[in-house]
Amino acid sequence: MAKVIHILNGPNLNLLGKREPEIYGYQTLDDVCQLCEEEAGELGLQIEFRQSNAEHQLVDWVQEAREAASGIIINPAAYSHTSVAILDALNACTFPIIEVHISNIHKRESFRHHSYVSARADGVIAGCGTQGYLLALKRIATLLKGD
Ligand code: DQA
Repeated sequence: MAKVIHILNGPNLNLLGKREPEIYGYQTLDDVCQLCEEEAGELGLQIEFRQSNAEHQLVDWVQEAREAASGIIINPAAYSHTSVAILDALNACTFPIIEVHISNIHKRESFRHHSYVSARADGVIAGCGTQGYLLALKRIATLLKGD
């Protein structure tokens, strides 16, 4: 059976494609989901792709993934820079976790330079646009092969 990777997206990413396209591009989150489905298929993985604007929902989904998934790819969006709760939930997981940011957070405002989630992530991809999600899937597949 194919291993399942949960891909979790934080606040405002539902507006991808419409919101600040000069920073985040013109692809929608549905487009990204579609591309991830295709990439996962090629890698022999299955995905569960979700987005929420609510911190507690993301915490609940990380806890769910802890039981149901083999890895997490997470773009915590603005919660990257504020959420100890999401970090704590991720710290309770023992499988591979890759953090993705569409934009290069280090090239932007200083408040975006620190991510709580990076303290747990096994890898961080930033500034590669939506391709970062596909790179994250490739990386997770490599890490899972080492199992
Ligand atoms: C983001 C970067 C965050 O700083 C920002 O709050 C987002 C998206 C990114 O994907 O580049 O909403 O995580």
